Amino acid sequence: MTPATLCLDREVIRMGRLSGKVAVITGGASGIAYGVVEMYVSEGAKIIVADIQAEKGAQLERRFPGTVYFNACDIRNEEDIGRTMAMAEEKFGGLDVVVHAAASVDHKQKIADLTVEDWDDGQANLLRSHVMCIKHAVGPMQRRGGGSVILVSSAAAENFSPAASVLYVVCKGAVLYLARWAAFELASCKIRVNAIVPGPFATSMWGQLVGASREVCLATITFAGGDN
Ligand SMILES: NC(=O)c1ccc[n+]([C@@H]2O[C@H](COP(=O)([O-])OP(=O)(O)OC[C@H]3O[C@@H](n4cnc5c(N)ncnc54)[C@H](O)[C@@H]3O)[C@@H](O)[C@H]2O)c1
Repeated sequence: MTPATLCLDREVIRMGRLSGKVAVITGGASGIAYGVVEMYVSEGAKIIVADIQAEKGAQLERRFPGTVYFNACDIRNEEDIGRTMAMAEEKFGGLDVVVHAAASVDHKQKIADLTVEDWDDGQANLLRSHVMCIKHAVGPMQRRGGGSVILVSSAAAENFSPAASVLYVVCKGAVLYLARWAAFELASCKIRVNAIVPGPFATSMWGQLVGASREVCLATITFAGGDN
């Protein structure tokens, strides 16, 4: 087996680097986070996937029985987020890692077009959900003696992207400052908080940004060799 095979065939890579770890992955029903789910499973983690796409969540449960559980969760809803973190303890006895990747891009692009309701709804999705994920991860992670929170920001926060929206850019930028603050606040609990800044990936979100409808994107875009 060549090193290239090891890198490309995700079914083959089994280093066990996450053996015994329990992760919550939001947005794991599709796109980048779906790839994270596959990789975490191959590394030995147990996973709660939180997403609004229930059918795709059920498919993941069938694909990885006993290893992946799905929780129908709208990240704009604090109770849903709290239930997701609690589920990690109920199903697997604890929580070690949160990857918060869920996000939407169906927001009005320009300040001039935004209503207060548009702003509040988009911000709840793109920023407040990060705060709530951290808030509800702290208790379970403290009971474990520590943990790691990974917030998914975007390169659009740092480099001008004409396809993005004011909500997306401002909130993804704020996620970087949130990570810095939370890392400071939670260091004494042995909880690490980091933000990652992906560039473009060919997912349904990316398809929407270049003009296709969300329905068409979800139905047609295949992510990196997986079925989502
Ligand atoms: N694709 C890119 O080019 C790109 C670039 C930079 C950053 N990102 C970031 O990466 C993350 C993943 O994006 P992706 O490209 O995989 O997109 P995607 O649309 O494929 O996946 C996003 C997931 O979030 C879920 N979601 C949306 N709204 C939700 C809600 N209210 N509650 C629960 N789940 C919800 C969707 O159902 C979907 O499964 C996002 O945070 C995105 O901003 C993506």
